[in-house]
Amino acid sequence: MAQQIPKVLVTEPIPEKNLAYLREHSIVKVGNKGEFQDELKLIDAIPDYDALLCMLSTPVTKKVLVAAQKLKIVANFAVGYNNIDVESAKDLGIKVANTPDVLTEACGDFAMGLLMAVSRKFNAAEQYLREGNFSGWEPLGFLGMELRGKTLGIIGMGRIGQAFAQRARAFGMNIAYHNRSKVSPETEKSLGAAYVSTIEELVINSDVLSLNCPLTDQTHHLVDKTLFKLMPSHSILINISRGPVVDEVALADALHRKTIAGAGIDVFENEPAVHPDLLTAPNCILLPHIASATFETREAIGMLASNAIVSVLKGESDSNIPNLI
Ligand code: DGY
Repeated sequence: MAQQIPKVLVTEPIPEKNLAYLREHSIVKVGNKGEFQDELKLIDAIPDYDALLCMLSTPVTKKVLVAAQKLKIVANFAVGYNNIDVESAKDLGIKVANTPDVLTEACGDFAMGLLMAVSRKFNAAEQYLREGNFSGWEPLGFLGMELRGKTLGIIGMGRIGQAFAQRARAFGMNIAYHNRSKVSPETEKSLGAAYVSTIEELVINSDVLSLNCPLTDQTHHLVDKTLFKLMPSHSILINISRGPVVDEVALADALHRKTIAGAGIDVFENEPAVHPDLLTAPNCILLPHIASATFETREAIGMLASNAIVSVLKGESDSNIPNLI
């Protein structure tokens, strides 16, 4: 009997090179932007597919996984995988992959750029110029916080946290961090990073607070009203991790009442919705989840996810697939 060609569902358009590679090994269906953010639509489609290449916005819930009849692997086009019910996948014998490493540098660059943009008020100053208000250089216009000598406090010292720390070091910042476990003494030394045992102590002593931790039950609303009260009034929050790590209402309140000086936010609690009070908040740069958005990185993400799928479809052993969770 002829062998059936496996079918892969890619929930949104991804780089053509990734699709071409998948097509060498399978029949590929590519969804439209946003199409499979609808759980019911995914439940309806999934029984047909042997593999799913999904986005961080695709709800790969238990219901979806149970509905799948021949699904062997879910490969997320992202390093964060809070959109996937990994436990249920494991129970059902479905493998799950993410895309570590390949987006670390792009995200490190982005975090540094975002911090620079907030601390030096790029957006407000540009808007001022575009609105025709620039009437000459002024000594007191758009003064911001200099980064040299300031402390960057990082919550979540994984790959991306370390990449940010490395860049901030080059800008003369001191690095402090809190993490589930300390990083190695060599890493601490190379980053000049000091471990702080409580989040509260880290927050109180940081001029910039950066969130680089995954979204879990433990980190949901980690930065809430209480923590905002501990942040110094000149401090800046940078979040490129996941929106729900921050209580958005508390963030908007802190910005409006100026109990913190600014924020750079790439991720939101209910993407793609943005809390209306954030949209009107002062000195706050809001971006549409683009930390990893470079041509090179997005192609590398797609390649890593596609490789995991092809390996699983070929029946290769798990030890050949480094990005399985
Ligand atoms: C990821 O891959 O999890 C990031 O959110 C991309 O920016």
